[in-house]
Parts: sequence; structure tokens; C-alpha cells
Amino acid sequence: MAAGTFWYLIITIVVACQWTATVSAMHCIHHNPVTHENHYDYCPEHQKQYQRNTLENRIYLDIKCDSDHCEKATATFHKAADIISSVVKFETPIQVNASFLSFCSTRGECKKDNDMKAIGLAYPTVSYLMNDPTDGVTRMYPQAMLKQFTNLTVIPRWATYDINAMFNSDISWYFYNDSGKIHQNETDLLRTVIHELVHGLGFISSWGDEMYNRFAPYVDDLPQFITPAKLTPSTELQSVADNVKTSVGTQPFWGFVEFPLDRLLYTTILSSPNEQVPLTHYTKVLNGWCDANVLFASMIDMVNTWYGSTERQTAEAMYQLATTSRDISICSTRHENDDGNGPTLQSMFWLETSLVPFMRGSTFTHVDQDSYQSSAEYLMVYNADRGVSLDSLTEKYSSGPLGPNLRTVLLDLGYALQPQFTNGTIADGGTIKNFRPSRPNVSYWAPADNLVGTTPNPSASIRVQSYGPAHMPVSSSATSSAASSTAIAETSGAIGLNSHTSPPSTAKIMMMMIMMMFVGTTII
Ligand SMILES: *[C@@H]1O[C@H](CO)[C@@H](O)[C@H](O)[C@H]1NC(C)=O
Ligand SMILES: *[C@@H]1O[C@H](CO)[C@@H](O)[C@H](O)[C@H]1NC(C)=O
Ligand SMILES: *[C@@H]1O[C@H](CO)[C@@H](O)[C@H](O)[C@H]1NC(C)=O
Ligand SMILES: *[C@@H]1O[C@H](CO)[C@@H](O)[C@H](O)[C@H]1NC(C)=O
Ligand SMILES: *[C@@H]1O[C@H](CO)[C@@H](O)[C@H](O)[C@H]1NC(C)=O
Ligand SMILES: *[C@@H]1O[C@H](CO)[C@@H](O)[C@H](O)[C@H]1NC(C)=O
Repeated sequence: MAAGTFWYLIITIVVACQWTATVSAMHCIHHNPVTHENHYDYCPEHQKQYQRNTLENRIYLDIKCDSDHCEKATATFHKAADIISSVVKFETPIQVNASFLSFCSTRGECKKDNDMKAIGLAYPTVSYLMNDPTDGVTRMYPQAMLKQFTNLTVIPRWATYDINAMFNSDISWYFYNDSGKIHQNETDLLRTVIHELVHGLGFISSWGDEMYNRFAPYVDDLPQFITPAKLTPSTELQSVADNVKTSVGTQPFWGFVEFPLDRLLYTTILSSPNEQVPLTHYTKVLNGWCDANVLFASMIDMVNTWYGSTERQTAEAMYQLATTSRDISICSTRHENDDGNGPTLQSMFWLETSLVPFMRGSTFTHVDQDSYQSSAEYLMVYNADRGVSLDSLTEKYSSGPLGPNLRTVLLDLGYALQPQFTNGTIADGGTIKNFRPSRPNVSYWAPADNLVGTTPNPSASIRVQSYGPAHMPVSSSATSSAASSTAIAETSGAIGLNSHTSPPSTAKIMMMMIMMMFVGTTII
């Protein structure tokens, strides 16, 4: 009896120690695809030895549906999961929270003119901040992708769903198993679901114009720029977090973080001729701003400091790349040249960089429309023609919706392929011999104790920069933080499902965005 109690106590203490020692080790990000806000959080580790799931390793869907076409929509969703699972060899089951609902009744999006209608969106539910020792960079690993990293000794307590996906039942869809040919005004749901799920697996870039939108109200004619997503440590003080949308109060900068896809992006434009430079190089340059550890007295001080910095010029140069076609490519190192000199850096795709202005959700997270819409690599262009079914595309391009270059990118993101796709596949410009997925020996990121404005360093010095062009936003009363907060929140949410501003005219075409597709009127 006594011995039993003794052992029980020992075990309890050991478990408790492990728990407290590791509870802060995992830092994750809950993504909100609608507001584009990232919520940084602690995510607990899995407490037991990881048990391999008895389910087959493939994509599973939980489907919520409220429509007259639920049966057909459900069949289409399952077919999309079948198609991806027949190409990608998942290491663990992937769970998708999918819905097929009226965006009019559930989200109040009831545009009658069909001019810009969101048709669907998908996004990783959660990402984990991981250090990649091969280049020393911290990135956000979507949960579906990190689940492929079978060498992790400690794993998070996975969120139930890897991907959130929503499709708009108000659209004229062509469903899988619909009898008869697709109608001119119908959009193929199967193609749309596969496209969106590939985004959910991690075909997403972190580069965007959120910081520009945040800064623009403070400077007249601020030149446009893009940066990767801002990093926020989970140790951020609540008093600092409270200022995230206001003009008053301290404003932190702790650096920028990429998604893993961003590691594959290269450009020759900003370097000496023909030298492919990884965009990660420019992320590192931008992270030099105030050593990525600074607390400004207010937005005015922050914007003035940014305005006078060399990093602003880098971010503006990145904007030029992002709005000029064929300036950025996705490269792979697993290609071999015919000369047999081993792997070379080979462009797999031109990125979509032809939209002006930059369109968050379309630019960067897609492949170049002009180069690929009429090729086997059509899946990840942002614009899906109406009246074209996946069946007719598969007749034309026998490799199926996931073309050879896209499969190579999936390998470079850490996904393994099914055996029939690892057998001498030829992609543009060379042969692949190495079909091993790229899984760097990543480790969990933890915020340094010296980060200003965080719980370990609550009374750091504050930076003031009152000289410069920044002024309080004109549209809001200078003294009311509540008013300015509202004004800025609307600006930064301008592109999204709840778009308040009219989209640029170049966008008035049918668009499949990372998270949504807009249906235009001017389609074939
Ligand atoms: C789809 O069509 C195929 C072939 O016509 C049929 O075997 C299958 O049962 C159908 N699936 C659904 C869910 O209706
Ligand atoms: C699943 O999706 C629905 C509909 O989009 C959403 O309301 C719900 O919060 C999601 N569930 C989880 C656990 O993310
Ligand atoms: C993963 O572990 C296996 C077996 O221990 C090892 O052979 C392999 O090199 C490891 N891979 C990585 C990426 O560390
Ligand atoms: C699509 O075409 C059908 C048949 O011609 C028509 O009934 C329907 O209203 C059209 N839908 C749209 C959105 O134009
Ligand atoms: C690989 O390709 C060769 C030649 O095309 C073929 O004979 C062989 O069966 C293939 N192996 C697999 C596993 O598909
Ligand atoms: C992976 O990194 C950890 C430290 O983060 C190290 O202890 C381990 O040896 C590394 N494994 C390999 C295979 O390099």
C-alpha cells in the first residue's frame, strides 16, 4: 500500500515537471483567413508517446453543408481528397474542416451583380514557429506540413483540424458526377477544392502589404512596399498588444517571419546579372530594421523611423518585383542537368507578380497566369475559367491536376509522393533523381528573454523619433484613439471577404485567390 502510494507520487511529480518545463516550448499561430490576423499563442506539446493513428494516412473532411446540392458537393469534396491523397503520401491523417454554405446568408455577402463574388477560401488553421538550421531562419510551418516531419522527437498536441476551407454555395457550380457537359457559366468545384486544399497544405507566401496598409494613413503618398508577416512573441505584454490597431501607445517590432514556401523563392533582379538570390536574403535584410527588437513610443515614431530607414527601400524594391511579371520564381535544387554535374538550382514556376497593385491573396501565392494557364501546371494559377471542367483539362494534360513541377514543390515543402510519382518524372528543364522530401531538422522557436515589451523584459527603453513626415491619420480625430483604430482596421482589411473598397479594375476578372475566387462578369 505504502509503496504503491510512493510510486504514484513520484510519477505525478515527474509528469508535472515535464509539463512545466516544456509548456512554453511551442509557439504557434492561429490564422484567421477572413481578417488576415495572426494570433500568436502557446501550443502545448503532445503529452503521451505519439500513437500512430489507426486511420489511413490521407486527407479526411468534416463537411458542414446547407444547400440543395449537399450530396453532390460532398461527393466532389471527397473526390478532391482522393485525388490529392493518390499523389501525396501523407505521413499522418490530415483533417479538413470544410463547409459548403451560402456566403449570403452566413456572411452577408449578397452581391447581386456577380461582379466580385468570393467563391471559396482555405487556410492552415495553425502554424508552428520553427527554426531551420540549414539557413538559420525561423518560419511558420502549417500544421499539415509539420505533421510530415516524422523525425520530430516532440510533437505538438495537434489542433483537430489542419485546414479550414469554406466554399460558397451561391455560385453556379459544376459538380463531380454532374451528368452532361459543364455549362459556360458554371465553375468546376472539383478543381477549386483541389486548388484550395493545396494552399491549405502550405502553398502560401507570407509576403504582403499589411504593414504598408498600417503605415499609409500616417504619411502622405507613402510609396507602396511589401514585407513578410510580422512576428509577435507569445510573451508580448498585454499593454503592448492592446495598441495593435491604435495610433497611441507603444508599438513593437520583433521581426518578420516567412512560410516554408518563401524559402523556395528566388529573384535575379536585385543582384548582379544572372545570380539567383533567395528572397530569404531580403527577409534577413528587413529583419535588420532596428535589430528586430524595438519598442517605439507611438505609431508616429515607428513610421518616422521606417521612413528614414534603408530597409524601407528594400521593401519598396520588393514591391516592384511583386508587381512586374516574371520577376520571382520558385526554385528547386533537386534537378540534375544533362551534364551530370549534380543538382542545380532550377526554376519550377514563375510566381504570379503581374497584378498591379499588389493583390493580397492573389499575388505571390499563385503561379504566373500567362505562363501556366494552358499547361499541365494550370492548377495554381489564380484565375480559373468558367465553363472549363477538370475532366477536359485532364484529357489535355494527362499528368492530372497536380503537375510534375507542382509535385516537385510539394517534395521541397516536405511532402512525400506516392510511389508511382517517384519514378523518373521529368519536369521542365531536367530530370529528378532525388524524390526524398525535404525535411530540415527543424526545432521549436522560443522568444529570447531580451525581447522588449515582453514579460521577461517589461521595462525596456522606448524609442522616440518625432522628426519625420508622419502625422496622425487625417480621417480620424487626432485625439481619439478609438476613432483612428476603426479607420485603420478598415484599411488593413480592405482586401478580403468583407471588402469595403472597390477592388482595382485589373481585378475585375474571375479570380481564384489563395483563399477565395471572385467571379467576374466578363468571362467566356
Ligand atoms: C459518381 O459516378 C460514378 C460513376 O458514374 C459512380 O460509380 C459513383 O457512385 C458516383 N458517386 C456518387 C457519390 O454519386
Ligand atoms: C469549422 O468551420 C466552421 C465554418 O467555417 C467554423 O465556424 C468553425 O469554427 C470551424 N471549426 C473549427 C474547430 O475551426
Ligand atoms: C530522420 O531519422 C532517420 C532515422 O533515424 C535518419 O536516417 C534521417 O537521416 C533523419 N532525417 C532527417 C532529416 O534528420
Ligand atoms: C447559368 O445558366 C443557366 C442556364 O442557362 C441559367 O439558368 C442561370 O441563371 C445562369 N447563371 C448565371 C449565374 O448566370
Ligand atoms: C518505373 O519505371 C519503369 C520504366 O518506366 C517501369 O518499368 C517500372 O515498373 C516503374 N516502377 C514503378 C514502381 O512504377
Ligand atoms: C537535430 O537538431 C537537434 C538540435 O536541435 C540535434 O540535437 C540533433 O542531433 C539534430 N539531428 C540531426 C539528425 O542532425
